[in-house]
Amino acid sequence: MGYPAATTRAFQYGLFIFTLTALLGLANATQLFGALDRNTLLTHLHSGTLGWITMGVIGLSIWMFGGSGATLARNVMLSAIATAAYVLAFWSGNFQARAIFGTIELLVILYWWWFAVSRGLAEGFGRLDIPKLSVIFGLTTLVIGSTVGVTVQIILGTGNQLPTTTDLVGAHAAAQVGGYLILVAAGVIEWQLTGGGKRTAAGLVQVALLFVGGLILSVSQLIASQLPAQAQQALPGIATLLTLAGAIVVVFRVGRAAVGVSWTEGAKRHIAVATGYLLLGVVLFGLLVQQFIAAQGDPSKVSIGLLHSVDHVYFVGLMTNIIFGAILVASADRPRVWPWADNVIFWGLNLGIASFVAVLLTQGSGEGAKPFASYVAYTAPIMGLSALLGIVTFSMRLMASPQMMRAPAPA
Ligand code: HEM
Ligand code: HEM
Repeated sequence: MGYPAATTRAFQYGLFIFTLTALLGLANATQLFGALDRNTLLTHLHSGTLGWITMGVIGLSIWMFGGSGATLARNVMLSAIATAAYVLAFWSGNFQARAIFGTIELLVILYWWWFAVSRGLAEGFGRLDIPKLSVIFGLTTLVIGSTVGVTVQIILGTGNQLPTTTDLVGAHAAAQVGGYLILVAAGVIEWQLTGGGKRTAAGLVQVALLFVGGLILSVSQLIASQLPAQAQQALPGIATLLTLAGAIVVVFRVGRAAVGVSWTEGAKRHIAVATGYLLLGVVLFGLLVQQFIAAQGDPSKVSIGLLHSVDHVYFVGLMTNIIFGAILVASADRPRVWPWADNVIFWGLNLGIASFVAVLLTQGSGEGAKPFASYVAYTAPIMGLSALLGIVTFSMRLMASPQMMRAPAPA
């Protein structure tokens, strides 16, 4: 599989910004600097979801849709600068800066959405395979979720209060996590494991279930107060069932290819393990939605440990594994700096996530605890240090120039 230079660039910028996410995660895990304030937590969150994951998704989209040329590489750079600026605006706590840079970030997202859609249209929408359709619908949900996010920023940036009749932040989070990430992940997993190229009825049902599930969940947050009590409870439930059905179709369609990868070496195991996280994430997300319904608008009744488990199963288990796997494939033609690191990164990242999530689910959140008082301080760093090792190793590999193909030895 050939891949464009702009993809390498997007991965490099993503890895760079991910450093901040991982360092803030380590500070949060150990509580060495005390409890992190809201601005810093939002920086951890959006440096991860926009700076790392969405820059990675941009790289994957360019690769999947066959983009090339210097203009695209320049646009990747501008996107990374805009994203870094928005992440810093979160950290600054300045609502005006968040509104301005959030709007610029939305333009960046619209640009990459159009990049994928226009290439899809050129190929013929009726002929696109399931991975490409998944990415296009995923990016469409990203546009919707980000528009809601920017609306929040503009309301706050102009000195107004968020309306109490609608849950804009809930609608934003639901679209991004419940729609965008899962659609893109399903598409990339299938493409990397099977090579893509297929457009089957089951695949189309999968895309429809995941897209509609995410959309209903998001819209149900927006219009909840206008609905009768029964519908308020039913809609999120229906949405999660649709998403769960979609995730089960994913597992049926790619499960065999996932189980068959080499678990002792290589890139594919990162993609294969992500398939398991996809299902786990949707199940935990369903439980979380049930808790939100039962809490009837009182967030203190929702388990913070469960909420943070869902976050990291999606953001690290699912998306970081996928992007790390894709980077390993993309750098396979370059010198393999630190070959020993591959196993440490794979097992460290995944044992780290598993133990961190197990602690969050059984013991609960460690935020606000004394330094090293919670088991979170001993599990999350395994994940964070493995991520940092991945950042350094993969950055060095992507920086090296591709190796020349060796001419076959004369007979
Ligand atoms: C242009 C892009 C984006 C904008 C403008 C944006 C904006 C926002 C805003 C304003 C908040 C609420 C902050 C507060 O509580 O004061 C927020 C929270 C959040 N965002 Fe984003 N965001 C963007 C991208 C994303 C992406 C790509 C994801 C995930 C893939 C994401 C996931 C979340 C989550 C999970 C929350 C937390 C909701 C909660 O407090 O429970 N955001 N975002
Ligand atoms: C893409 C990457 C990541 C994203 C998007 C992300 C997102 C989040 C979010 C949304 C929260 C909840 C913050 C809140 O209280 O509102 C959180 C908490 C946390 N994150 Fe991350 N995270 C990522 C990677 C990491 C990494 C690599 C570590 C490694 C150490 C980490 C460690 C933590 C810890 C320890 C908590 C507090 C959990 C608790 O005790 O409840 N995160 N993260």
